[in-house]
Amino acid sequence: MTFEYAERIKRLPPYLFAEIEKIIKEKKAQGIDLISLSIGDPDLPPPQFIIETLKQEAANPKNHNYSFSQGEPDFREAVAGWYKKRFNVDLVKDQVVALLGSKEGIANIARAFINPSDRVLVPDPAYPVYANGSTILCDGTVAPMPLLEENGFQPDFEAIDTRKVKMMFLNYPNNPTAATADKTFLKQAVGFAKDNNIILCYDNAYSEITYDDYRAPSILEVDGAMDVAVEFHSLSKTFNMTGDRIGFAVGKTQLVSGLTKVKSQIDSGPPVYIQKVAIKALSAYTGKEAPEFLRKNNQILQERRDLLVEALGKIGYDCDKPKATFYVWMNCKGDSMQFATKLLDAGVAVTPGLGFGNRGEGYVRIAFTQPKERIIEACDRISNAF
Ligand SMILES: Cc1ncc(COP(=O)(O)O)c(C=O)c1O
Repeated sequence: MTFEYAERIKRLPPYLFAEIEKIIKEKKAQGIDLISLSIGDPDLPPPQFIIETLKQEAANPKNHNYSFSQGEPDFREAVAGWYKKRFNVDLVKDQVVALLGSKEGIANIARAFINPSDRVLVPDPAYPVYANGSTILCDGTVAPMPLLEENGFQPDFEAIDTRKVKMMFLNYPNNPTAATADKTFLKQAVGFAKDNNIILCYDNAYSEITYDDYRAPSILEVDGAMDVAVEFHSLSKTFNMTGDRIGFAVGKTQLVSGLTKVKSQIDSGPPVYIQKVAIKALSAYTGKEAPEFLRKNNQILQERRDLLVEALGKIGYDCDKPKATFYVWMNCKGDSMQFATKLLDAGVAVTPGLGFGNRGEGYVRIAFTQPKERIIEACDRISNAF
């Protein structure tokens, strides 16, 4: 017996990352040595103080009860404190909600505000959750905003048809293009959102993974952002804690409340012991600058980035050195699926740009989430394959 899927499920495109993971697993099961540069999951461990704190907090029986849907008050206070130190932005506890990873919040925010006829501005290419988990699963309509290389992978607000648009997603430092945005652009984005009554969902998951002294801003640093914006953060990339599922959303009180209303009907807060660990992690910041663990982590990533970009250049694929994220967005000079499939056969997994949207075609995303030796080996394999 089979049951018919809901229409919204039928509208979902295949989740490309899951498909790639499946192929990688199959190849590994066959004993094939595949170098996976496809998924944005850091290979580096969380800092030791996180592991120690986790052990301690998990050992406390009091930390195993339900948490509040909005998160523990001390966690929300720690987030507000981190915002003050890191971005000089003032927040009160009610402007913070704990998330089971930022993906969950990005998906659930649309549930609070999107009706079936509403259009949602989604960058193209983009992290697929804005279009799929968020817009389509809430019966909204995806309105793609092209991110073109000639515009620094930023949308052209003047070219956007704003009819029926209720929400917009932006993400800098950007996945998959690794582009960054400065305050001038953020001001334009806030102005555009305010002028057109649009909820601005700003995904800042990679704000801490930056190189060459670049520090990413928060949208909430911009005057007026608190009237229209909610910003999503995650400890996944910053502290190499992808599996621990902890993030947060902050910003305009009404947007945070809407998200909390949805969450209170769907889940409870993240495990209390994980929130305690997150408090410890965020308190490693003493000011705007990255704490020691993060500086070392980013130094390792930066060396890999340099190695990868230089090696790709020698093979004939010139790419810019990204100032942030752990991705290189490479023009593959052709069909991205064909390129990625050929590389899979050569023993290297990269993500075809098409998986991030139509405007991703012609590019592949290469994640430097493997040690240097593996990156060198991967580049040798790419060189031999092409
Ligand atoms: C741009 C972007 N936003 C959000 C996330 C979600 O991260 P998490 O749910 O682990 O916080 C990811 C994960 O890859 C991402 O690339």
